[in-house]
Amino acid sequence: MAATSRDDLDTYLAASRRLVDDALGSAVPGPGTPPPVLHEAMRHTLLLPGKRLRGILVLAACEACKGDPAAALPLACAAEMVHAASLILDDLPSMDNATLRRGKPALHRVVGEANAILAAVALLGAAFETARRAEALKERARGEAVSCLALAVGSEGMTAGQVLDLEASGRRLDLEALESMYAGKTAALFVAAARLGGIAAGAKARDLEALERYARSLGLAFQITDDLLDYSGNPATTGKDGGLDRERTTFVNLLGIDGARRLVDERIDGAIAALKPLGRRSARLAAFAAHVRDRER
Ligand code: IPE
Ligand code: IPE
Ligand code: MG
Ligand code: MG
Ligand code: MG
Repeated sequence: MAATSRDDLDTYLAASRRLVDDALGSAVPGPGTPPPVLHEAMRHTLLLPGKRLRGILVLAACEACKGDPAAALPLACAAEMVHAASLILDDLPSMDNATLRRGKPALHRVVGEANAILAAVALLGAAFETARRAEALKERARGEAVSCLALAVGSEGMTAGQVLDLEASGRRLDLEALESMYAGKTAALFVAAARLGGIAAGAKARDLEALERYARSLGLAFQITDDLLDYSGNPATTGKDGGLDRERTTFVNLLGIDGARRLVDERIDGAIAALKPLGRRSARLAAFAAHVRDRER
């Protein structure tokens, strides 16, 4: 597998983030569009500086399957819209009751709870429509993309994970239960993002399966690093509240910091190993996984 240096990856992440940011700005109606409160609310969370890791994963997976990342850009935007919707809902008083998101007040603190919920729903609608309209893709690939996103959002994906998360409040979970919660609330969208890239490239079933195995391990590792950052990260760097998970079951609370770190290493190694069928073309995805392991925000 060809190596991608840390500098190469940083340059790639910055360039890809810019591409996704520019495309997102015009993928949803402008701020004055009636009703202004709704469009401003959608744009608020969506356009604040997120890391865009799911969007970048779409582009990198497409490239790893010999596709044209420009053709996958609408799918990258769609993945980021679903992600932004999930953040808005996750922050609500009835869920994590967060105050800060992407360095600014959480959306419900800006536009009220009802408008925040409606903005999240509207972002999901915009995500499906953006994927369906991906003009460089064949009709069949667009259909697969919409259905891939719908599965990720649905009752066996992210929403299931959030329900398990809410049900776990005040209870101690075992490793297996925690892992299945994370598979839903976080890894489902990583899996969808990787598959979207493959779909845009017209990848074979074997390659899509490799991408899926990669993203499942990567998504789990990502959520464990998120738990580590909740425990010891700096809100000035992460842009969100710290310590919200202190009373809940997380991998940090179950395994301790060193144990959680070891599990991250294991999952990242597993993610990289899953790339084998893609050969040298997957070097960037391997570097992306190492970046998730080492991230500080
Ligand atoms: C936060 O995701 C939600 C989790 C699944 C932990 P990110 O840490 O990727 O958030 P942004 O997109 O950079 O704001
Ligand atoms: C969230 O997990 C998963 C989502 C899909 C939003 P967290 O609740 O740990 O995410 P953060 O820490 O608020 O970003
Ligand atoms: Mg949460
Ligand atoms: Mg949260
Ligand atoms: Mg968290």
